[in-house]
Amino acid sequence: MRIREHPILTYEKGREVEFEFDGKSISGHEGETIAAALHAAGVRVLRKSIRHARPRGFFCAIGRCSSCLMTVDGVPNVMTCVTPLREGMRVETQIGKGEIAEAGAAVPGWDTADAEPADTPADLGSVPLAIVGAGPAGLSAAIYAGRLGIESIVIDENDVPGGQLIKQTHMFFGSLDHYARVRGIDIGTELCRELESCPARLLTGTTALGLYGDGTPAKTLSLLRKGRHHRLRADAVVLATGASENVLAFDNCDLPGVYGAGAVQTLMNVDGVAPGDSVLMVGAGNIGLIVSYQLVQAGVRVAAVIDALPEVGGYHVHAAKIRRLGIPILTSHTILRADGADRVESATIARVDEDWKPVAGTEETLHVDTICLAVGLTPNCELASMAGCEEAYVPELGGRVVRHGADLETTLPGVFIAGDASGIEEASTAMLEGRLAGVAAAARLVPGLDPDRVAKLREQAVAGLRDLRAGPFGRAARVGKEKMRELVGSREGAESGPQA
Ligand SMILES: Cc1cc2nc3c(=O)[nH]c(=O)nc-3n(C[C@H](O)[C@H](O)[C@H](O)COP(=O)(O)OP(=O)(O)OC[C@H]3O[C@@H](n4cnc5c(N)ncnc54)[C@H](O)[C@@H]3O)c2cc1C
Ligand code: FES
Repeated sequence: MRIREHPILTYEKGREVEFEFDGKSISGHEGETIAAALHAAGVRVLRKSIRHARPRGFFCAIGRCSSCLMTVDGVPNVMTCVTPLREGMRVETQIGKGEIAEAGAAVPGWDTADAEPADTPADLGSVPLAIVGAGPAGLSAAIYAGRLGIESIVIDENDVPGGQLIKQTHMFFGSLDHYARVRGIDIGTELCRELESCPARLLTGTTALGLYGDGTPAKTLSLLRKGRHHRLRADAVVLATGASENVLAFDNCDLPGVYGAGAVQTLMNVDGVAPGDSVLMVGAGNIGLIVSYQLVQAGVRVAAVIDALPEVGGYHVHAAKIRRLGIPILTSHTILRADGADRVESATIARVDEDWKPVAGTEETLHVDTICLAVGLTPNCELASMAGCEEAYVPELGGRVVRHGADLETTLPGVFIAGDASGIEEASTAMLEGRLAGVAAAARLVPGLDPDRVAKLREQAVAGLRDLRAGPFGRAARVGKEKMRELVGSREGAESGPQA
């Protein structure tokens, strides 16, 4: 199941090590995730669910869904999709909640030689600008704030910066200013290179657990870094925390082998492990089409791409590439069920009518071992919610989103939101929103700061966003952002009304 040859990627692996899985010895590569090593060894069932002991595999592969919890070295509920493999680890299928760990047991992945020294201060002091998320939005925010002389710390839970870009092997569209004709993986590297010339510090392997908006003007972030808790105060914060993948309800949708598209991309393009032999892709938007193409590049058969919409949602150029490979794209189709004893063995699909109801007699069973869901993303708003930022429901932006003004400032002064976290779009708009948030945060931190330069950088980012959102493919974001402007306008009107 390991990908031996790839037209674009070469996989750098740690040394081969032995570890124990349910009493059996298995080999994997040091540093890859436990879930990836198990997948490469053909293991799909990682745990049994709490109530009905149903088999569960992983789903998101980015530490968001808890589908991959296993007991590791006696410690239950370890997220194996983000925990690196070490030699001699004892990994067990977790049944239900798992047994309580022995007092003092070290948390796997945090007890290693690279753990923080015990005397690392808990209080990391204060910084003018803290940015959570080192994806295209967060890195761009730090670069643009830095260009205006503002010092920042960029925090990301992953060891490698770049957010979702680290697994995107395809070339981007748009203008040269948005890295057109550059592969996603290289854009992340390029942004990190630019960051090096800025007054910015990158804190990877660090999760922001909480944001407290209580101080004026300072905010406090609580951080977890290699098993230790830290506190960081900031005068302004940019939240660029990205998004999580949506699930879809159908019979047996929890069977191991039903994976999010991002998880499949991580497994193939980061870990070098094929998700299966034969895949049904659900969703013909850009993500579904791009990941289908990448599956073929990795030597995996794609049986079909289906979508309930009557038309393909993604760019026609991506759809044409899929069709040229002989893969059918079945619009007005949905998935009815997955079948298999403890892993996907087949999927049953059917045509839907104009009310999206399955049409009896059109059912077809496909013999696939993987069902990949590319059915949209939901913004990660938890930190903003915790700090007390107001939210709104805007379906065009991905559902529940944080209210923000034209400069991406939330209802909590000094807290900005950018990229997928502010509403689902794509990486080019995430970069531009990051630039805008970085410039706006700088202007808030230093009133009167170089007004001509601030105005110019702001206008460039706004114009870029306007261009990218023009046309049919930017319609949802355009409508969503307009709704957001109306919501914020009506709130400001309501607030000023009684006072006037
Ligand atoms: C499968 C898939 C395929 C895609 N294909 C394309 C494509 O072809 N073209 C395109 O333009 N876009 C594509 N996208 C979308 C694009 O990747 C995103 O729009 C873009 O990466 C959003 O950038 P961002 O910076 O907002 O978030 P992200 O890139 O998601 O970065 C957010 C970062 O924040 C970190 N983070 C989140 N919460 C915390 C926390 N509490 N503490 C610390 N760190 C945290 C995350 O780990 C992550 O590294 C794809 C997305 C997916 C999932
Ligand atoms: S948390 Fe590991 S698969 Fe989602």
